[in-house]
Amino acid sequence: MNHGDKVCADNNGSSEPVSLIEKVARRYRSDGLSGVSWIAVKRLTCRWPVLFFYTFTAPNATLTNIRANNRFEFEVSSEVPCEKHLNQLGRTRVLFDRRLGQGHRYVIAFDGDNAVGLLWAHDGDVHFEQQYGFNVPFGRDQLFYYDSLTLPEWRCQGVLQGMLGALAKHTIQQDGKAELAAIIETSNLGSRRAHEKLGFSKRQLNMYCGALSRYRPFVLWRRK
Ligand SMILES: CC(C)(COP(=O)(O)OP(=O)(O)OC[C@H]1O[C@@H](n2cnc3c(N)ncnc32)[C@H](O)[C@@H]1OP(=O)(O)O)[C@@H](O)C(=O)NCCC(=O)NCCS
Repeated sequence: MNHGDKVCADNNGSSEPVSLIEKVARRYRSDGLSGVSWIAVKRLTCRWPVLFFYTFTAPNATLTNIRANNRFEFEVSSEVPCEKHLNQLGRTRVLFDRRLGQGHRYVIAFDGDNAVGLLWAHDGDVHFEQQYGFNVPFGRDQLFYYDSLTLPEWRCQGVLQGMLGALAKHTIQQDGKAELAAIIETSNLGSRRAHEKLGFSKRQLNMYCGALSRYRPFVLWRRK
């Protein structure tokens, strides 16, 4: 099915810009005081960005076994979504054109006619992390996925779970790769907890220091 065929009548307006106060409030609701202090640290260190993140992996076989909430539909695609769905997800056509042009694909989640979740996957030897400007290496038997998002109203209802299940199934059928890999900032406690609940485990703790213009992050810890 092509989600571009879905009814694209009105936009439920979930892509409005978010103020700093709202960002802090959301972070407080999701991660408590530690989440808020990470926002403060990030703001204060923006001239000298230091980023700590974990590499997480999960076997595709585990992810395909998780039962998704059947209220939602999940689709793996390499076509640009319609305007309504782009707006709902707060993403631009330019972004989709660029990533799809680089051979990336995405999983989109629908609740009826509304797009409520999205994540991207990149099949290659190395992924360039656009937001921070460094390369993320990953294994040959791994599919790297990034930029996952469930719109706030639909969180904790199994949207990420369903998108990962759909990606894992697709990966097994198309590439035969054994694992999904992702990087998650140490400060993103909500995302870390969600991934751990879904069967992901930490493989590495990494640090990236923008001021040193390192092309790759340092590995601080690696699981034996
Ligand atoms: C992280 C995120 C994608 C999770 O999406 P989601 O659709 O809410 O996740 P799911 O509902 O599939 O949750 C999977 C499991 O994690 C749990 N979970 C989800 N968010 C959680 C949180 N903040 N804290 C603790 N557990 C959480 C769910 O309860 C569920 O566990 P269960 O099966 O035992 O009930 C979503 O919170 C989000 O979009 N955050 C903002 C963007 C972001 O940080 N993306 C990740 C970048 S690495």
